[in-house]
Amino acid sequence: MTTVITIASGKGGTGKTTVTANLGSMLAYHKKRTYIMDSDMGMANLGLVLGLENMPITLHEVLAGKADIHDAIYEGPFGVSVIPSGLSLEGFKNSDPDLLRGIMADIVDECDILMIDAPAGINHDGIIPLAIADEVILVVNPDIASIVDGLKTKMITEMMGGKIRGAIINRVNRIDDKGTEEQIEKILDVPIIGMIPEDTNVRRASANRTPIVVKYPTSDASRAFRRIASQTIGIEYDEDEEKSEKRKENLIERFAKALFPGGRDVN
Ligand SMILES: Nc1ncnc2c1ncn2[C@@H]1O[C@H](COP(=O)(O)OP(=O)(O)OP(=O)(O)O)[C@@H](O)[C@H]1O
Ligand SMILES: [Mg+2]
Repeated sequence: MTTVITIASGKGGTGKTTVTANLGSMLAYHKKRTYIMDSDMGMANLGLVLGLENMPITLHEVLAGKADIHDAIYEGPFGVSVIPSGLSLEGFKNSDPDLLRGIMADIVDECDILMIDAPAGINHDGIIPLAIADEVILVVNPDIASIVDGLKTKMITEMMGGKIRGAIINRVNRIDDKGTEEQIEKILDVPIIGMIPEDTNVRRASANRTPIVVKYPTSDASRAFRRIASQTIGIEYDEDEEKSEKRKENLIERFAKALFPGGRDVN
């Protein structure tokens, strides 16, 4: 059974692409056959954060009826299958978002989880991914504009017969801030799946075209992503594994210092 999960927000820039790339990679790490797809035809960025921005065939060509979806699937971190969208305005103009449902039917039997990175906003293109998902995960920030837009997205999803699995609160100052968690849970009236802290390594990892869970596995945000991934597939979060990753990271750092005493940045 495949589960189609759409990562949505309403407001732009809350962290949908970051969540899709990191959660998708972690699910693949746990041996779930995972596809992650950028359904933002106008402002694609999933490919960008994964170093797949110059792929010859993307969702643009598929939604223009010019290519098969299987030719737009690329291997990402931990073996996650990535379906990027194109960057050109011409490609955006030629793609028909109504074909999305049919395309999904072509790949849905090939994976355990199909995760869709939804565009911001509630126009036609933004609504389709909410309607075709089995579950929608809202990504909100701890600010009122993002929470209100998250609430709107929840209402639209439910109006279309969709189901909200819960919300991820991204960019919190403190991961143990129970007050913020409870407040947002109360306003949205959905379960809080997890909180991800503000972490400068998220941006550093993106600039490196690598998800933070791969680039800085023991960073605070990576820990949160690992926890959410384990919880999503119902397995216990492995603290020991995290410690061994930390040891590995320290070893690499020591190695790098020995090799490049002048301080070359290995990151
Ligand atoms: N936990 C975090 N800590 C620090 N920076 C973050 C965090 N999460 C996301 N960011 C940064 O915030 C910016 C927006 O994130 P992202 O692109 O994932 O949002 P989005 O919801 O996909 O945006 P859009 O609506 O434009 O598609 C990026 O520069 C990203 O690196
Ligand atoms: Mg995005």
